[in-house]
Amino acid sequence: MATAPDLLAGTRETIRAMRDGDVAEVVGIERASYQFPWSEGIFRDCLRVGYTCRVAAISRQIAGYGVMSVGAGEAHILNLCVAEAFRCRGLGHRLLTLLVERAAAVGMKEAFLEVRPSNTAAIRLYLAHGFAHVGMRRGYYQAVGGREDAAVLRLGLRGGSRTDL
Ligand SMILES: CC(C)(COP(=O)(O)OP(=O)(O)OC[C@H]1O[C@@H](n2cnc3c(N)ncnc32)[C@H](O)[C@@H]1OP(=O)(O)O)[C@@H](O)C(=O)NCCC(=O)NCCS
Repeated sequence: MATAPDLLAGTRETIRAMRDGDVAEVVGIERASYQFPWSEGIFRDCLRVGYTCRVAAISRQIAGYGVMSVGAGEAHILNLCVAEAFRCRGLGHRLLTLLVERAAAVGMKEAFLEVRPSNTAAIRLYLAHGFAHVGMRRGYYQAVGGREDAAVLRLGLRGGSRTDL
């Protein structure tokens, strides 16, 4: 199998809808990326209920993914993850841009997400996209030896016109 640098050399990723057949590969990235990963069943449920599920693929290899729910004027970014070998190359930025544009395009007025306050890489990414800290959810996350709070971040959206995202 080609290495991440080989795959990235001159190759632009494709961001497309996640399919059932992607879930095993997505779960592999999820397990390697989080201490308390989503199960395969959660990803399948997200696909089944029609959440916005996207993957970034490079030469058919999945490098990252994002999952978002939309409704009642609000988008909720539920998961955003890039495989370790592909990080710090702008993929997280491009996946997040696509989700936010999609939320605006389908008429959502604001986007929310939760993030561990200890996750400085993700927080920097979200702040760079204009998300702002609007609150804390106490004990929201599982953590080793107890629970960890979640920071709640919000982004106001303006209506867009793209529907191909
Ligand atoms: C957070 C995550 C999605 C970022 O993906 P990525 O592809 O590496 O991000 P990008 O290369 O697009 O970087 C975008 C910005 O994120 C921030 N960032 C990314 N990695 C960072 C790091 N290791 N340290 C500090 N800031 C970082 C920077 O602000 C960066 O912008 P810059 O390069 O102009 O400084 C990735 O680190 C990841 O998958 N982490 C594990 C899963 C996770 O924690 N997801 C978020 C759950 S809320």
